Amino acid sequence: MKITMIGTGYVGLVSGACFADFGHDVVCVDKVAEKIQAIESGRMPIFEPGLDQLVANNASAGRLTFTTDLAAGVKGADAIFIAVGTPSRRGDGHADLSYVYAAAREIAESLDGPTVIVTKSTVPVGTGDEVERIVKEVRPDLDIQVVSNPEFLREGAAIGDFKRPDRVVVGTTGNERAIAVMAQVYRPLNLNQAPVMFTGRRTAELIKYAANAFLATKITFINEMADLCEAVGAEVQEVSRGIGLDNRIGSKFLHAGPGYGGSCFPKDTLALVKTGQDYDTPIRIVETVVQVNDLRKRAMGRKIVKALNGDARGKKVALLGLTFKPNTDDMRDAPSLAIVQALEDAGAKIAAYDPEGMEVAAPMMPSVAMMGDAYEAAAGADALVLVTEWDIFRALDLKRLAGSMNTPLLIDLRNIYPRTEAEEAGFSLIRVGGQGVTAG
Ligand code: UDX
Repeated sequence: MKITMIGTGYVGLVSGACFADFGHDVVCVDKVAEKIQAIESGRMPIFEPGLDQLVANNASAGRLTFTTDLAAGVKGADAIFIAVGTPSRRGDGHADLSYVYAAAREIAESLDGPTVIVTKSTVPVGTGDEVERIVKEVRPDLDIQVVSNPEFLREGAAIGDFKRPDRVVVGTTGNERAIAVMAQVYRPLNLNQAPVMFTGRRTAELIKYAANAFLATKITFINEMADLCEAVGAEVQEVSRGIGLDNRIGSKFLHAGPGYGGSCFPKDTLALVKTGQDYDTPIRIVETVVQVNDLRKRAMGRKIVKALNGDARGKKVALLGLTFKPNTDDMRDAPSLAIVQALEDAGAKIAAYDPEGMEVAAPMMPSVAMMGDAYEAAAGADALVLVTEWDIFRALDLKRLAGSMNTPLLIDLRNIYPRTEAEEAGFSLIRVGGQGVTAG
């Protein structure tokens, strides 16, 4: 199969490289020449484990090529994936679809035969209809099918998620050629027994938002339970385990923490809320989730100030982890941003260490001192805050850290460290949703 991927952002680059690894012939197109040059010379625009190797292997095998020339890139393609950005529109929170529509128009203008155009970008319900209208308007002469194929990959685990997905969702208008092409595109997944679910196009578009909103709700639910646990003297980790063992609930996405961040949950929950309002069917649960999560991030800053006896002025706080989650350099909507703001407002001085995120984070938090490792960050600090659960923070030398601090106070916002371990090392420990002590 010849596949063209428009957009070499997160989804486009990972999907393009994985399709090539499946044996398809893939061309990745991006308007930004520097980006294409960087990728071709082995420098990835994002940090994603295994991606550089995957790109290099498939590029040298000749299955994966890159170009800035969209017209050349789409010629003869069996399927053309649109994987351009859909950021939140400034001001109103709706998804900004201008890049998607511009790509659709440009693709249509350049086509030399019938093809299938697939939206992989996360797009609100009805976007496929508009893409179809645009391409038909530009090329009434060609049979162009428009399909929705939302992406569910997680940053940091994107390649594994792409190759061994829980499911693939393909939304069509029932056209047989479109269905046949998409079945062929995903045929290599048959080996992994991943279900490919064919459904309607609008349904597929909604599935993506519903999935992300549900997961965001699950996290927010357990975060509120964590607050209640703190108030009543219960343990949220045990509550998670106790409810997660019920198969109907499931154990994943029940880790209490500083609130969800990233490029998807905040943006997609907001867009779903907007869609609901537009269609006069407000999704009130998700509206609340969005509000609760926004407030939670700053509340984590207040939690830290409270741990400093309510007075952070002139005190030094060390943050471990800045990215919204481990194994990424992504800072979008990271809880650390609101935490830093709240701490600075309270007069604290902040030092931080993150294995991959400091370069991106530095301009977003200019007064934070970026340090060489966790130990440098902690030296002389009055509080050490574990914000993002990078593996490298799971086995820190707690004695050494505690010994180097002004006040050995550990605020573990990811519940990584057991109380006994922290206290034996000399720390006083504050966690999320309880003491971290279990009876029996
Ligand atoms: C998410 C979805 O998982 C993916 O399917 C979708 O396509 C894109 O959005 P991603 O944003 O990469 O992926 O990260 P994910 O691992 O899902 O974590 C999202 C946020 O939730 C992070 O801030 C994480 O720290 C938080 N989280 C996750 C929790 O606070 N608790 C949990 O139990 C799980």
